[in-house]
Amino acid sequence: MNPQQLLYIYELKGGVRPPAVDMKGLLGVWPEGEYTYLFFSLPAEAAVAAFLDTHPEFRLTDYYRLRYGDWQDLAEGEPFQVGRFTISTRPDRSGEAAGDNHLLIDPGVMFGSGLHPTTRGCLRALSLLYLRLRPARVLDLGTGSGILAIAAAKLGATEVEAVDINPLAVSTAAANCRRNKVEETVRVRLGDARGDLPSADLLCLNIHLDFLRTFLSRPEARAYGCVILSGFLQKHLEEVISLLPGGSRLELPPLIENGLPTLIVANHPCERGVNDHGPTEPSF
Ligand SMILES: C[S@@+](CC[C@H](N)C(=O)[O-])C[C@H]1O[C@@H](n2cnc3c(N)ncnc32)[C@H](O)[C@@H]1O
Repeated sequence: MNPQQLLYIYELKGGVRPPAVDMKGLLGVWPEGEYTYLFFSLPAEAAVAAFLDTHPEFRLTDYYRLRYGDWQDLAEGEPFQVGRFTISTRPDRSGEAAGDNHLLIDPGVMFGSGLHPTTRGCLRALSLLYLRLRPARVLDLGTGSGILAIAAAKLGATEVEAVDINPLAVSTAAANCRRNKVEETVRVRLGDARGDLPSADLLCLNIHLDFLRTFLSRPEARAYGCVILSGFLQKHLEEVISLLPGGSRLELPPLIENGLPTLIVANHPCERGVNDHGPTEPSF
């Protein structure tokens, strides 16, 4: 999407499920608690009014209009580099096939352009981890645009499961998987990370501190050989480290991006992979 493009966002309250709607210019439906946000690429007062007439369980509570570039805070100079990856968030412009070190990510209105410090930290962590180990099965909880799942597939993971609670993230991530030709490797699905979780060699977790606090107390937290953790401020670093399961250790010192840490945690000794490069850290 063009950073100058205007977004028209209608906040609705009520209803129990994201409404199935087909309206001109609709970019997506974002449920958030008791609210539903309808994102449009053009003004849609009339269409929203018509929708409310036929769905009296919803009411319009707010309306926002802003530049897409302000919503996503996209980079002026593209593509940009993170870890091993070159990232283009304007696939329409890149004109290139996505190679193994190139991520073509159209985040739409979802989180995961690659610019946010927590995403950058996770991408650096993945880049470092795959230099030393080769986790085959990866679980990406809170996948957003799918960027971490796609990066893991490009680094050599053979089975990646990407989960998000937001249906708009699921469709966005699935489109990005196709764009990067990893749809055979990455399975994207709707799901709640607070529920039952599948096993994997590596867990990527970039959600938020409240989620981490609860998750780290669950027995599943120790079930993954390695965990990449982000989504909290540096002032909470000691707290998060204190919540790590007994017996786990940090593979590397925390990676800090703009004051936001990312941890690489080994729960039990990760087996050395075929591309073991030893304990040294390259300068990503
Ligand atoms: C900070 S974004 C991370 C996106 C992407 N993984 C990245 O690193 O850029 C967090 C994502 O977690 C999702 N999320 C929040 N709570 C969740 C839950 N309980 N289960 C699954 N996904 C959740 C949100 O919808 C959002 O897409």
